[in-house]
Amino acid sequence: MKDATKATHSGRNPQLYSGIVNPPVMHASTVLFPTLKALQDSRKVRSGDGYTYGVHGTGTTFALEEAIRDVEGGHRTRLQPSGLVACTLPLLAYLSSGDHLLMTDSVYGPTRAFCDGMLRRMGVETTYYDPLIGAGIKTLMRPNTKVVWVESPGSWTFEVQDIPAIADVAHKHGAKVIMDNTWASPLYFKPFEHGVDVSAQAVTKYISGHSDLVMGSVTCTKEAYPEFQRAQQETGICPSPDDVFLAMRGIRSMHVRLPHHWCSGLRVAEWLMGREEVKQVLHPAMPHDRGHKIWKRDFLGASSLFGFVLKKKYSSNSALAAMMDKMRLHGMGFSWGGFESLLIPVAPQNIRTATAWPRDDVAKGQVMRIHVGLEDVDDLIDDLSDGFDRLRKAS
Ligand SMILES: Cc1ncc(COP(=O)(O)O)c(C=O)c1O
Repeated sequence: MKDATKATHSGRNPQLYSGIVNPPVMHASTVLFPTLKALQDSRKVRSGDGYTYGVHGTGTTFALEEAIRDVEGGHRTRLQPSGLVACTLPLLAYLSSGDHLLMTDSVYGPTRAFCDGMLRRMGVETTYYDPLIGAGIKTLMRPNTKVVWVESPGSWTFEVQDIPAIADVAHKHGAKVIMDNTWASPLYFKPFEHGVDVSAQAVTKYISGHSDLVMGSVTCTKEAYPEFQRAQQETGICPSPDDVFLAMRGIRSMHVRLPHHWCSGLRVAEWLMGREEVKQVLHPAMPHDRGHKIWKRDFLGASSLFGFVLKKKYSSNSALAAMMDKMRLHGMGFSWGGFESLLIPVAPQNIRTATAWPRDDVAKGQVMRIHVGLEDVDDLIDDLSDGFDRLRKAS
């Protein structure tokens, strides 16, 4: 089956529920057992393997887990209460005191904070590496390197990583490769075809698609799953059934929304390229982009989150405020992947430690992160155009 069919059919079986299309929302803590033997046997059932207690999963959670797994690939998906938990729980699962972690310098900020905070307190050492390192990562591998983390394209800076090359080296050294695959969604990058062992998704973004819930998913290969399953069981982390229900509505139309995001995103990116105020557009699906070759080789599409750099003369905070405070359609807020457009200034130079920002191929100036939503793209361009007029006048 193709992805569109999987997204619409996976994780539901109307025959089980009198023909009703969607599985019911199961609100559950207690699960009753019919006999003493069944109760005793349930102690051998691991989290996610059956109905034992609400924390360990219900038909509602298993249904969405199956749908995400079928589209993204891999052996087993487990839901998490946020995208950040989908990033931190695998790190807890595969790392112990004395271990070493290789982390891309372009990682999502709160994942970095977890490495510098909780992982450090646990005695795990993190080395940040240049996201463009590719096979050169071999020089950083140590005997105790247990995990190599990739995120492609990177948060805020959009560098595309050579994941097959990195995974090849990591596996030769016995390390697992964990990826934050949120940008591409399960549709546009198939992590398990490129050497990834564990994929984290912020379901909050394109899977849910409606800016009304937070959730995450972790999908593992067969070999990687048992250790992750243990961490899930030991921590008791689980999502709310009502949020799972909402995310399930999202995944059914993800394959229709994503091409629209991709197409509108490219239209806006091309328009930005022609603007006097813009020095550079950071979008891997554009031929001029440094990551374009690898994006074309490995990805099946592009989402609508990307960056652009304002010329230095248009980068003052007061001019930016004149532009941003009066945008009609572009909201200012964290997150992305919903139906609505967003625009925020970001400051990668303040968080990178392994590589300087801007890189040698990136212009100096204020970096903006834009999420192109499902509005009419001409209306979005009008809003941006008016914003740039205000920016120019105030500069
Ligand atoms: C790349 C990436 N990964 C993970 C997350 C975390 O998702 P959540 O907001 O659901 O915790 C985000 C959120 O912005 C993100 O941008």
